[in-house]
Amino acid sequence: MNSNTLLSIRNVSNVYISRSFGMLGKIKRKPVLKNINLEIQKGQIFGLTGKSGCGKTTLARCILGLIDYDGEITLDGQKNNLKQKQIQMVFQDPGSSLNPVKNIGWLMEEPLVIHKLMPAKERSQKVDEMLLRIGLDPAYKTRRVHELSGGQKQRICIGRSLILQPRLLIADEAISSLDVSAGAQILNLFYELHKTMGLNIFFISHNKDAVEYLCDRVAVMKNGTIEN
Ligand SMILES: Nc1ncnc2c1ncn2[C@@H]1O[C@H](COP(=O)(O)OP(=O)(O)O)[C@@H](O)[C@H]1O
Ligand SMILES: [Mg+2]
Repeated sequence: MNSNTLLSIRNVSNVYISRSFGMLGKIKRKPVLKNINLEIQKGQIFGLTGKSGCGKTTLARCILGLIDYDGEITLDGQKNNLKQKQIQMVFQDPGSSLNPVKNIGWLMEEPLVIHKLMPAKERSQKVDEMLLRIGLDPAYKTRRVHELSGGQKQRICIGRSLILQPRLLIADEAISSLDVSAGAQILNLFYELHKTMGLNIFFISHNKDAVEYLCDRVAVMKNGTIEN
């Protein structure tokens, strides 16, 4: 690991343990990740691709500290479980994490409220700034989720993640539910955010073309291992 390393993933393995009640609770162990080693440098858009079911989302969940694993994952040289807020994630289905009852202004402000990051009067200005960054007019604050397109919903999810100023944004199949043109616009937004804010991105997609288009470095996963 050198001083330019942002995220270091060393010898990471993970086993899914499931209990099938039909067989009197027999425990099944399924190895999902098998000794993964990756180093992501600062200032990079890093891409991870591979067929559905190969373990990409499982690795993302390990990086976020949501599931147990063997091995070591560090962010800026420190164990990631101390730094939850430093890594944010956006998912495939942008609608599912947005409360339909609330308006966009409320949804954008929510992460700041939860993490008590700044006084109320500064929050509103921060939300306006972030909306502009993600390509939406601040007038959208009064709208609700059902009034937005899929691409606009994904922009809101990205904005809600970035408003916490994470060190790393993990995008897991973030364009997979969008049509081609909306997907391309989100790819371009990631690129712009990377250029203008220096945002570090871990971009996961089964779409190899999208990964190759956006990313500086690409790793391919197959059956829980990284191919070389
Ligand atoms: N909740 C679960 N229970 C048991 N096995 C699971 C579960 N989630 C994922 N898996 C297994 O882990 C493997 C990797 O899944 P995942 O990380 O979601 O792959 P990808 O994101 O590359 O499509 C799959 O083959 C699946 O069988
Ligand atoms: Mg996945």
